Amino acid sequence: MDEILISLPEIADGEDKSSPLKNRIRKNYRHVRKWARRTKTNCFRIYDREIHQYPLAIDYYAGRFCAQYFARSRDDDEPPEDLKEEITQTLCAIFGTQPELIYWRTRTKRKETRQYEKLGESREFFTVLEYGVKFKINLFDYLDSGLFLDHRETRKIVASLSDGKKLLNLFAYTCSFSVHAAMAGSIFTKSVDMSNTYTEWGKDNFVLNSLSLKNNVVVRADCLKFLDEEIYSGLKYDLIVIDPPTISRSKKMDQMFDIQIDYIMLISKALKLLERGGVIFFSTNSRKFTFEESFFPSCSIIEISHKTLPIDFHDPKIHRCWKIERNA
Ligand SMILES: C[S@@+](CC[C@H](N)C(=O)[O-])C[C@H]1O[C@@H](n2cnc3c(N)ncnc32)[C@H](O)[C@@H]1O
Repeated sequence: MDEILISLPEIADGEDKSSPLKNRIRKNYRHVRKWARRTKTNCFRIYDREIHQYPLAIDYYAGRFCAQYFARSRDDDEPPEDLKEEITQTLCAIFGTQPELIYWRTRTKRKETRQYEKLGESREFFTVLEYGVKFKINLFDYLDSGLFLDHRETRKIVASLSDGKKLLNLFAYTCSFSVHAAMAGSIFTKSVDMSNTYTEWGKDNFVLNSLSLKNNVVVRADCLKFLDEEIYSGLKYDLIVIDPPTISRSKKMDQMFDIQIDYIMLISKALKLLERGGVIFFSTNSRKFTFEESFFPSCSIIEISHKTLPIDFHDPKIHRCWKIERNA
């Protein structure tokens, strides 16, 4: 691989006692910057809802900033103007950035069914690095950027087991798990997602890293139907990643998907595709989710959520993750 140089902004030393927010962002950035340089990563969180009056998460993506405002009530659709102004000034003061490089998102309290819909048409894509692997990002047209930063460590764990292995990635989004696995030596990956936009985006991520699409197949399908067909085909995998949405009401699906109900069926079917000694990584963002291990008596199951929490995320409940190994 070419030598990759990570360029990260220098920031002034010192404290500004009048602004706890500024101090917090500075402190977080200094903490993560050393790690980022060392690991060849230029996308990370610099503020994670740590101060009550600033209900935001701010992510840095290779010179741009994505500020996500967490709405305080169901009718709250936009961040207050004075908050936007203060954040903009703070980021410009610390990083010497321009307001045009700060992108805003609102996470509403309503049940998100529009999560995967398009918000704009800018087609403004750029590239970031995560552990030296390239990903295509868009901070304007969609609610999510193309890379879920909270899963960085989970991707690394999966990649570390991938050399010489076959991986199946269900609910693959932009194929980030598969791209990391392929870069780490996986001999075959298959990524399944029902969105045309994200399967195309995923293919671009493979190409961006000079990976062949012959050994890295991307399938546009409903995972629930796909699983039945794949079981019938007899193909088996060493590693399977399952990272579904909490609830999905897409028209493309015959029925509504609910993680708390459907995880048993999903994992049971995935187990039929798993080689002996293979591993499933199952994860969810649902805060209420409970995992009943007794449904899978032939497996060793450990919750690895604490191991998958990145250094720049401060909420231990951001996601939950389990490692499921087939014993027999
Ligand atoms: C939480 S995201 C997955 C994130 C991904 N694992 C990652 O780490 O980048 C959920 C994805 O599931 C897809 N999806 C939702 N319901 C689906 C279904 N029934 N079959 C296939 N894909 C589905 C969405 O299009 C979306 O890309």
